[in-house]
Amino acid sequence: MPTLGVNIDHIATIRQARRTVEPDPVAAAVLAELAGADGITVHLREDRRHIQERDVRLLRQTVRSHLNLEMAATDEMVAIALDIKPDYVTLVPEKREEVTTEGGLDIVGQIGRIGEVVDKLQSAGIPVSLFIDAETAQIEASVKVGAQFIELHTGRYAEAKDEISRDQELALLDEGCEQAIQAGLRVNAGHGLTYWNVYRVAGIPGMEELNIGHSIVSRAALVGMERAVREMKQAMRGLL
Ligand code: PXP
Repeated sequence: MPTLGVNIDHIATIRQARRTVEPDPVAAAVLAELAGADGITVHLREDRRHIQERDVRLLRQTVRSHLNLEMAATDEMVAIALDIKPDYVTLVPEKREEVTTEGGLDIVGQIGRIGEVVDKLQSAGIPVSLFIDAETAQIEASVKVGAQFIELHTGRYAEAKDEISRDQELALLDEGCEQAIQAGLRVNAGHGLTYWNVYRVAGIPGMEELNIGHSIVSRAALVGMERAVREMKQAMRGLL
């Protein structure tokens, strides 16, 4: 079974909704690790809509599993990564208007630039993963630029509207994973995975890590609701 990287971006989304100090993603990371998270993932976006640089710096000091920094392949982000030194970096495409990361990164179309960024990070001892769609050309280009890992985009599988297209998307992930491993890459996957659709992706042979965020943070908010309300009533009585 693959390991689980818990993406805590949306803990920061709740905090940023009020520009306050709670909930702190650093505290969320500690609790996730206590529950068995094998890694902590954060996406430092150019617009800083959720995770802030302060979070990444503190997480670097506090995370006991491994810290995976998702980022765009920009000079600003490369400088931050070289300074903070996460355990690995996942390069993702980033558009200002998007609600979340949409497609995979186009390695084929920007092989020079991605190769340069991979070289800079990996020669500083930071392994790089490329977030790509499970397409032969993108996998081949990922090998060419020398990345150690890829992360297969599971969004199309997660969003498939019927069983037939879901099976087709799963088969593409399965074949992509096999092709990548044969070519010497290590393979992670993520995006849109939920408690209902994760099982089949977790069963893909050779898959190393699944990065899951929104579904876990959503469930955390709901399974914590009763306790949070009970504790507020206690606080009103001066008992907390
Ligand atoms: N992997 C990558 C590369 C991502 O960009 C994201 C979203 O930030 C995830 C995994 C997690 O996706 P989700 O929040 O849908 O679980």
